[in-house]
Amino acid sequence: MNRRNFIRSATLAVAAPLIVTQFKLFGADVPSNKLNLALIGSWGRGEAHFDSLATQNVVALCDVNEDHLAFGLKKFPTAKTYVDWRKLLDDHQSLGLDGIVICTPDHTHAFISNWALNRGLHVYCEKPLANTVEEARIVRANFIKNRGKLATQVGTQRHAFANFNRLRELVHDGAIGDLKATYAWGNRQLRRPGYLPAAGNPPDSLHYDLWLGPAPFHPYNPGYFSGGPGMNCLQWNMYWDFGNGQIGDMGSHTMDLVWNVIDADSPISAEAKGEEFNPEVSPVTMESHFENPANGWRGPVRVSWYQGGALPPSPKEFIDLSKIGHGAMFKGSKGFIVADFTSRMILPFGDQADMTYYKPRAKEDVLPPISQFQKEWFDACKGNLKTSCDFDYSSRMIEQMLLGLVAYRVGKKIEYDGVSGRVTNSPEANAYLSHQYREGWTLNG
Ligand SMILES: NC(=O)c1ccc[n+]([C@@H]2O[C@H](COP(=O)([O-])OP(=O)(O)OC[C@H]3O[C@@H](n4cnc5c(N)ncnc54)[C@H](O)[C@@H]3O)[C@@H](O)[C@H]2O)c1
Repeated sequence: MNRRNFIRSATLAVAAPLIVTQFKLFGADVPSNKLNLALIGSWGRGEAHFDSLATQNVVALCDVNEDHLAFGLKKFPTAKTYVDWRKLLDDHQSLGLDGIVICTPDHTHAFISNWALNRGLHVYCEKPLANTVEEARIVRANFIKNRGKLATQVGTQRHAFANFNRLRELVHDGAIGDLKATYAWGNRQLRRPGYLPAAGNPPDSLHYDLWLGPAPFHPYNPGYFSGGPGMNCLQWNMYWDFGNGQIGDMGSHTMDLVWNVIDADSPISAEAKGEEFNPEVSPVTMESHFENPANGWRGPVRVSWYQGGALPPSPKEFIDLSKIGHGAMFKGSKGFIVADFTSRMILPFGDQADMTYYKPRAKEDVLPPISQFQKEWFDACKGNLKTSCDFDYSSRMIEQMLLGLVAYRVGKKIEYDGVSGRVTNSPEANAYLSHQYREGWTLNG
């Protein structure tokens, strides 16, 4: 029995005769029902979690930048502070931790997530969760091993927008006939020539070696830290050792529009093309295409991702897809749906597409809304462990997107065995499914 459940049971024993107050004692916000959480990365994206975290007990903060720790302490003055997340996780029992929220750079996500799962902690991790196919698979396997015990959520909070459910209903209810293909795209363009040159020493407040963490050594340059709060990820996410470019950036949010609809397992192939490969920086312009096999409700579907100005062909000349910065499209046997995060339009095509085949669902069958994305995870930790973007759902999406980058890198269509996690027609591609880490760092600590 963990600490919180113990307190809850103890409260139950004491409160049993107090029938009048029982409701209050079991209310979601009573102290005994709050989670003990740690926030790792206490500035930038971390700040976006402050208000929801304040509904729980934040018992620890960790940041490699002591100024950023001080920033977090202003909001959570009683929290214990750490600069090394490994030390924080070592202390999880004395802190009475129930779970952690990870808002650090992408190259640390799978490490911190996996170590936390190994210690029986619930985890909320900002997107993208993994930087390589191997990382995505390791974190998923660990979560599946702990299914029924731990709640996880990847920070694709737009998933709670009503449009996600509406798209799922339209496609599943047959508004465009049988689903054939899906497309998602994003037009962000961050062009970087290569890793930044050495420039001065890190400020005293920054533990640069811990910032690098498992990534191969690159000299300090203030350019990696020059972005505003919540935007600094754009200063490092294009470099292979720290991020995976547009896929881990907006791609995680935008492909989610598609992933939420198609109930996909692993793809059986991936192919990609784009600008010339740069060994230091991920591509700006690129497109990747996957074959995802049939499942119980649909036939095989072709899934495509376009970035940096590349776009799918428009279904109609009067629809200018470039006007949708981050969008998705679904092609069925009887029409298209074009969408952004908050709106959608249906384009039936052909003389047979009179839409009499489509019956909108009854009001009572409409998919229920997600109240609030962070709260969904808190509630899951306290109760049924169910979240919309758990490490199973989200790791599959990022694994597929990252496999597209592998196909881009080898420059040919690769065939993929999702059970073994191996490319079956290119030994060269298999070498790109994982990263080399700095000595002393292991994913499975
Ligand atoms: N869900 C969203 O809409 C959204 C929006 C922005 C960023 N993000 C994600 O949030 C993450 C952080 O982005 P950001 O722009 O805040 O980045 P950032 O570079 O500002 O880093 C965030 C904080 O983490 C700290 N940090 C860095 N390495 C650390 C480590 N090893 N241990 C502890 N703390 C560490 C930094 O000092 C900083 O305070 C990224 O993965 C990004 O993809 C998500």
